[in-house]
Amino acid sequence: MTQKQPSNGVKVSAPGKLMLFGEHAVVYNRPCLVTAVNQRLFVGIEKHSENKILIDAPQMKITDLSVSLADLNKEQPKEVRFVLEAVRNFFKKYDIESGLKIKTESQFSSEYGFGSSSAVTVCTIKALAELFEVKITEREIFDLAYKTVLDIQGAGSGFDIAAAIYGGIIYFLTGGKIIEPLPIKDIPLVVGYTGLKASTSEIVKAVKAEMEKTPEYYEKIYDDISQIVGKAKPEMENANWPEIGRLMNENQEILRKFKAPSAEYGVSSEVIEKLVKACLEAGAFGAKLSGAGVGDCIIALGKDKEKIEKAIKEAGGTPVSVDVDYQGLKIEN
Ligand code: PMV
Repeated sequence: MTQKQPSNGVKVSAPGKLMLFGEHAVVYNRPCLVTAVNQRLFVGIEKHSENKILIDAPQMKITDLSVSLADLNKEQPKEVRFVLEAVRNFFKKYDIESGLKIKTESQFSSEYGFGSSSAVTVCTIKALAELFEVKITEREIFDLAYKTVLDIQGAGSGFDIAAAIYGGIIYFLTGGKIIEPLPIKDIPLVVGYTGLKASTSEIVKAVKAEMEKTPEYYEKIYDDISQIVGKAKPEMENANWPEIGRLMNENQEILRKFKAPSAEYGVSSEVIEKLVKACLEAGAFGAKLSGAGVGDCIIALGKDKEKIEKAIKEAGGTPVSVDVDYQGLKIEN
């Protein structure tokens, strides 16, 4: 963080994430592959003598927001909802009450869909555990963070929370039933931001509504995605990038078959298709949307990173330079 942390404070950081394979299916008890990325989010917390929580989150345009402890159960502004819900859940679970001063800062824009909500939740829980000398395992952080995210969003697989805690590339099953870090190094990953911020919860809701009309159709889609994830896992361990690229294209093809949010593109969209096509024409092994779809980022795999990034730019997107971050949740001081 650029701002100075007081000496009695605790500062922690966690990486952002990108979904590689298996989005949407992972909400419905199928596996996915996710990578942590080396753009990190930081949370600093110190105790405060008054019975209130002061929050500074410049990235979210929040400065010196004050919430009294008595109001923690009330609806909070959306920019700080995850931080405050994490505090509330932590205090409740460990029977603690204290005033706090919290500062958050991020190396990435919250527009990218890199998982700022899950990273801030995980960091808040870890910082509180340090501050109040509560022994907490990574699994316990996962469970409390997952509960926090579900309290707010109502749905979600928790894959983003696992990436923030463990770092690296992870094979993940819904709700953390499996969290398996994979021994994979140096993916030739290219990332492009569509310029469009997507609402994950709205897309997940739209898919769910459509799924209720034709459950068999979606069960088949999720099974097909699950098979791709199963094939991609060993190929990634063998660094077989051309085959992984081919599997990415197959996964993208299925994501177009969703009947919501749009009949034409499924969970993909015109802007995603444009960037995906540009990447493939520039020689990428494969390309697909990453996350809920509609907007946020696309990912591609290719040897000539520069050429693919140039193609993304020419197609109207913004290349985002990231690598895998093998460092998960970390205490910074
Ligand atoms: O939009 P993102 O990057 O948060 O990814 C959402 C992925 C989903 O599978 C659609 C939802 C989830 O929680 O797994």
